[in-house]
Amino acid sequence: MKKNLIKNISNTFNFFNEQDFFNKFITSDILSFLKKIKNETFDLIITSPPYNKNEKNNGILVKKIIYDNYKDKINEKEYQEWQINVLNEIYRTSKFGSSFFYNHRIRYELGKIIHPFEWLKKTKWRIRQEIIWNRNIAGNIRGWRFWPIEERIYWLYKPFHEKDKGQELKPRHALLTSIWNIRPESRNKGHPSPFPIEIPLRIIFSLFDDQKNKLIFDPFGGSGTTAIATKLLGHNYCSIDISDNYTLLSQKRFNQLNSFKNKFDQEVKFHVVKKTYQERKKEKK
Ligand SMILES: C[S@@+](CC[C@H](N)C(=O)[O-])C[C@H]1O[C@@H](n2cnc3c(N)ncnc32)[C@H](O)[C@@H]1O
Repeated sequence: MKKNLIKNISNTFNFFNEQDFFNKFITSDILSFLKKIKNETFDLIITSPPYNKNEKNNGILVKKIIYDNYKDKINEKEYQEWQINVLNEIYRTSKFGSSFFYNHRIRYELGKIIHPFEWLKKTKWRIRQEIIWNRNIAGNIRGWRFWPIEERIYWLYKPFHEKDKGQELKPRHALLTSIWNIRPESRNKGHPSPFPIEIPLRIIFSLFDDQKNKLIFDPFGGSGTTAIATKLLGHNYCSIDISDNYTLLSQKRFNQLNSFKNKFDQEVKFHVVKKTYQERKKEKK
């Protein structure tokens, strides 16, 4: 077994020891894993859970998402309760002052909207911002509504106290605005719905700037994109997925870290303030 690959968590694993989950890809059901983790462990969480989508209504242009070891359609009420449980367990295991970037989307069932706020507002997390991820894709060919081409990324926050608003972003990161124009990932053939690496890169770089060695957690790690971005920016990762095949795929992609260097360099170039606020003010005088 590779040093950073754990295929089955058994009772012999004691995740209260950091070395058991630091810089590891682990195959596990997420709630079983979290039960073994002590309070206030993670510095930042980034994830995209399964969306509970009814595959048969996907339309012609939108590719069907079928996971290896998970059927992405359960009763909606059960799905939302499961997400609330997972999010609250992650709240417990996250440090005060930590952030959680949770990617989801607006879904429709029988003509009715299902919005992520329906369950996010029932969790312990404070909703700090809603980011629009404009994927710039060709929309669904049917005209039941204007083609939805965006997803959402919720910035959730665990405050130290009621009035804690969290740290400010540096201007070079904040100027990236609340609308992110990022094309979906097309190179990753082994997983049906991977993140484009720009998403975790943008989040981690914006939050930690030039700090290093934070512990960044992806509870639905899929093909390991968050872990790869984490490593590229000099931090520690922990990536969980229920599928052994995806854990192995994560390891394989992680071994090709250098192939992500171009995307890394491109993303970093966006985080630049050409003129500071003071300089612009001076110019106006
Ligand atoms: C949207 S994908 C994540 C993709 C990931 N962001 C990437 O870049 O590859 C959701 C993942 O959740 C995993 N999953 C589903 N149920 C799970 C569970 N109970 N515990 C852990 N992982 C689960 C699926 O196998 C799938 O890979």
